[in-house]
Amino acid sequence: MDKIVIEGGHELHGHIRISGAKNAALPIIAATLLTPGWHTLYNVPDLHDIRTILSLLATLGVVWEKIGPGTIRINSADLVSCEASYELVKTMRASVLVLGPLLARMGRARVSLPGGCAIGARPINFHIQGLKKLGADVVLEQGYVEAAVSGRLSGGTVYFDFPSVTGTENMLMAAVLARGTSTLKNVACEPEIGNLIDMLIAMGAEIEGRDTDRLVVHGVERLNPAEITIIPDRIETGTYLIAVGAVGGDVTLTDCEPVLLPALTEKLRIAGLELQEGDNFFRVRGRGSLASVDIKTMVYPGFPTDLQAQIMALMIFADGTSFINETIFENRFMHVAELRRLGADIKVDGASAIVRGGSRLTGAKVMATDLRASASLVIAGLAAQGVTEISRIYHLDRGYENLVEKLAGVGAVIRREKDE
Ligand code: UD1
Repeated sequence: MDKIVIEGGHELHGHIRISGAKNAALPIIAATLLTPGWHTLYNVPDLHDIRTILSLLATLGVVWEKIGPGTIRINSADLVSCEASYELVKTMRASVLVLGPLLARMGRARVSLPGGCAIGARPINFHIQGLKKLGADVVLEQGYVEAAVSGRLSGGTVYFDFPSVTGTENMLMAAVLARGTSTLKNVACEPEIGNLIDMLIAMGAEIEGRDTDRLVVHGVERLNPAEITIIPDRIETGTYLIAVGAVGGDVTLTDCEPVLLPALTEKLRIAGLELQEGDNFFRVRGRGSLASVDIKTMVYPGFPTDLQAQIMALMIFADGTSFINETIFENRFMHVAELRRLGADIKVDGASAIVRGGSRLTGAKVMATDLRASASLVIAGLAAQGVTEISRIYHLDRGYENLVEKLAGVGAVIRREKDE
């Protein structure tokens, strides 16, 4: 297993190219199950999670090939199975995204229940209830969701108790081939869902309400293969903005979409970062002193839970106290104990964390616990004095393309080593 070794205290200067969004690529890859033929996807990040979903699709009979940097072609003409096994789903919860498209196209799907994960219980009851509303028989047997319908799914009204991201995506992919119209209410409107909707529309789907909390899907009889460009990763973008805030410097992020980060940019400006944004770039300058800001994670366009750990790392260096309230996941403070090992003063009280800023961090050995927690440790390590070693970095490989190379390219002293 590899570890990351960081010598802290080096300012960041230069350019970083932002990769395609993992959370947009995953549902779009799953959507290629809806119809046979060669689909072409551009700007696909080279990440472990992407390889996992492609391996899962390969077990179903899907073929794919890389035809250029970030460009893949996928064809699901010869499906041989409708089952996503426990072995694959347990390594990546987003595997559940094959449920909707398999059921819509094949009339059945058998997908392992994902179980809990480091950040919370994360059930999939909304996905199951929604599919039932579209006429599917769904049973849970031996740890698997078994869904079936004779003929096509039928349109229906689905109300989400909470706007689940992958739940919305699964229901969209189920509804596009249903007989009749489906109305999906209180859905999530994360930009990655907009990217999926663009792909589905390019495939011939009829969907109204993009970027709103109510989607109307007029089912069609068949879809066609399509091509799509994956949107830039707003969480990767936010992570590097925050890193510059923590350690200082002057960095331009290219190939990103600043408009997708309204809550973060507002908070970073209040904290004292200089941000300049264009249609597809950000220039960020860290000036040294930082003001504390309070954070409450919310569904889009609120502050993303996937940037909560990183902004917490930044608040360690701010003047004053920051209150961070996590409202999306019930156990998303695993990074706190590790940040404390570096010298941070953070208290957790239920769903809130209180960060007393102004601590001087010193490097230590820490352990990555989940994807975004790992990113917060990298940020803290970049700004700490001395050497920080982060083990279990396979979490980072799931979601950050070339993180070490990108940070080293702007002056960070960071390397990957074998963890003995
Ligand atoms: C997606 C993102 C993840 C992000 C999260 C919230 C992908 C692949 N992952 O995860 O990076 O952190 O959105 O922005 O896009 N819930 C239920 N029942 C369900 C579904 C969800 O109770 O059937 C709860 C969850 O436990 C959680 C909340 O709803 O508390 C939001 O979860 P959800 O939006 O579904 O997250 P994911 O789609 O899994």
